[in-house]
Amino acid sequence: MPVRYSKKLDALPHYEGGMDIDRARRMYEASDVIKLASNESPWGPHPAVLEAIGAAAAGSNRYPDQYASLLRRRLADRYEVEPGTIAVANGSCEILLAAALALCEPGAEILYAWPSFSMYPQLAPLSGAREIRVPLNDAYEHDLEAMATEITAATQLVLVCNPNNPTGTALPVAAIAAFLNRVPDHVTVILDEAYIEMQVLDDPDATVDLLPEHPNLVLLRTFSKVYGLAGLRCGYALGSAGFRAAVDSVRQPFDVNSLAQAAGAEALQHADDMIARVERTIAERIGVEEELHDLGLRTAASQTNFSWIDLGDRDEAAIVEGLGKRGVIVRAGTPLGGPGHIRVTYGTEAENRRFLGALAELL
Ligand SMILES: Cc1ncc(COP(=O)(O)O)c(C=O)c1O
Repeated sequence: MPVRYSKKLDALPHYEGGMDIDRARRMYEASDVIKLASNESPWGPHPAVLEAIGAAAAGSNRYPDQYASLLRRRLADRYEVEPGTIAVANGSCEILLAAALALCEPGAEILYAWPSFSMYPQLAPLSGAREIRVPLNDAYEHDLEAMATEITAATQLVLVCNPNNPTGTALPVAAIAAFLNRVPDHVTVILDEAYIEMQVLDDPDATVDLLPEHPNLVLLRTFSKVYGLAGLRCGYALGSAGFRAAVDSVRQPFDVNSLAQAAGAEALQHADDMIARVERTIAERIGVEEELHDLGLRTAASQTNFSWIDLGDRDEAAIVEGLGKRGVIVRAGTPLGGPGHIRVTYGTEAENRRFLGALAELL
């Protein structure tokens, strides 16, 4: 009899990341390819971060600090919270998976908006929970009113992606606070803030002030986006000591490698660099969105490092392929839950010009 794998695999959707550059070269027979498909930073890590990674690499014969003590201490100083309330993991994706495993039994409900981050559909099949999806409103934003009415006694986890991937839209902290006041205490709310530094509606740390009032609130953040460290895999959650302990009990002990811990700890020492990266991203955002509108395209109001573009009645697959043949990788909307759209991450100014030129040609 052949090996039989768990039945839950049948229900697990396949997570397909943005196409990598080598594959795009082969597929589109294009030599000079740029990747604007995974919401990464086009700018590499700060030189001091690279140095810290190099120094940590020399100690690679040792296992990493299982408690990520230095990183958690620096995060605690940065946010003025207790180190014991901070979970760190191998990317914020790992915290999402750990939260679902730690919180959900079969029969539990996980509630989230759609389209939203494409990891969320993994959580229910993995944990045995049932998922409830609430459509975004016409402005591509979370409909928190509709989400609040979907909460039941079985709801264990609510995911609010703010700013939202793939649409880039964000809600102000006042709306989030009003929503939290309606959520019963037994429900954990993960506010996925992977792009929070790039929004201009509120102080990026405004939600940290909501933590003392809401022990069921978790803020999920990452070094993958604004800090330019996606390749190292390091994410963290600010929440309660209970949430941190739950994550720690289901993750593997040495999940954040030494290089990632050192990089994250060092990156936090360079706030000016982070702010400069945000400013450059916002400048690109303004420029790209303006030109997209000049091309006659509607976009969701981006508060992130990417645009969600409504293609109207144009052929999504033909546009993705046409851009690919011109050496520009973007993300098709259909697999992200939004047929008739594409998502493009901002690159450097030159890369964005190239994307806009290629798109104008195709239109
Ligand atoms: C909304 C959102 N949350 C979390 C993540 C995952 O980030 P990490 O690299 O920390 O796993 C992403 C990555 O694209 C994202 O868009």
